[in-house]
Order: sequence, then structure tokens, then C-alpha cells
Amino acid sequence: MGINILFYYAGHYEGIDQRVIDEIEPEEISIGDYVLTGGELPAMVLIDSVARYVEGVLRETSIKEESFVSGILEYPQYTRPEVFKGREVPKILKSGHHEHIEKWRRKKAIEITYQKRPDLLKKENFTKDEIEYINNLKENE
Ligand SMILES: C[S@@+](CC[C@H](N)C(=O)[O-])C[C@H]1O[C@@H](n2cnc3c(N)ncnc32)[C@H](O)[C@@H]1O
Repeated sequence: MGINILFYYAGHYEGIDQRVIDEIEPEEISIGDYVLTGGELPAMVLIDSVARYVEGVLRETSIKEESFVSGILEYPQYTRPEVFKGREVPKILKSGHHEHIEKWRRKKAIEITYQKRPDLLKKENFTKDEIEYINNLKENE
């Protein structure tokens, strides 16, 4: 097993001196179009998001179903208790019917993406039924 070492240069103030950049020719990574005071938080964000993909860090199924992996946001999560302040876990999730649960999760993922990140819906390929479902969401707004 090889060992990869990552050096991360966290800039501060106005950034890193251009001559240092010219000398070491680093890969420059931005974590988004906003300015933080220094590069430490971006370094941690980068390490955390990449470490998730290192074998053994997480269960493989956990990674596959996360937001963005399928191109859209993830379906809603429910855990215990079954009733929280009068709000129940949707019955379908307790049915044990995997195919129905998958369909329900996909619809919910589309719905959540439509509400929170409609821009992502433009990039994803949908089935005819799913396109119809999205059109219904738009009509019922
Ligand atoms: C105050 S910022 C420098 C901003 C720079 N003068 C500019 O206007 O683009 C200081 C350092 O924080 C880091 N930094 C700030 N925002 C970042 C982001 N969104 N992604 C990655 N690093 C960031 C960079 O290393 C940057 O050199």
C-alpha cells in the first residue's frame, strides 16, 4: 500500500506570495465563491470530504446515497423515536417493501432538490414519470 502525502498551504492576509506559487506550482483549490480569513478551514473541508472516500472510513452504501452522488439532493432521513412531537415516521419506511421505499425516496429526493436546489434538476436525467412528477410540483406551487 502506497502512502500519499498531501501538503496544504493555507494562505492568510492577501494570500501567498506569487513567487512561492511560481516556484512550487501548487494545485490551487477554492471551496466556493466566498472569501474566508485563511486557508485552514478550506483545508479541513477538503480533507473531510476526501477522507470519506478512503476505504474503511465509511460504509460504502452511506457514500453512494449522499447528496450530489446521484446528481440531486438526498431523500429525508428518519430515525427513532417513531413519533416525535406528534410527527410520525412515514408508514412506507416501516413497510419493509424495499422497492416501494426506493421509489418513495427517489420522489422525495426530487421534491427536496426542487425546493432547495432547482438548478441541480437541469443537470440530471429523469425518467418520463419523474419529469411528470417535476411538472406537477411546478404546477402546484
Ligand atoms: C483573505 S483570503 C485572501 C483573499 C484574496 N486577497 C482575494 O481577494 O481573493 C486569505 C486566504 O484564505 C484562503 N481562502 C479564503 N477563501 C477561500 C476559499 N473560498 N477557498 C479556499 N481558500 C480560501 C486562501 O488561501 C487565501 O489566500
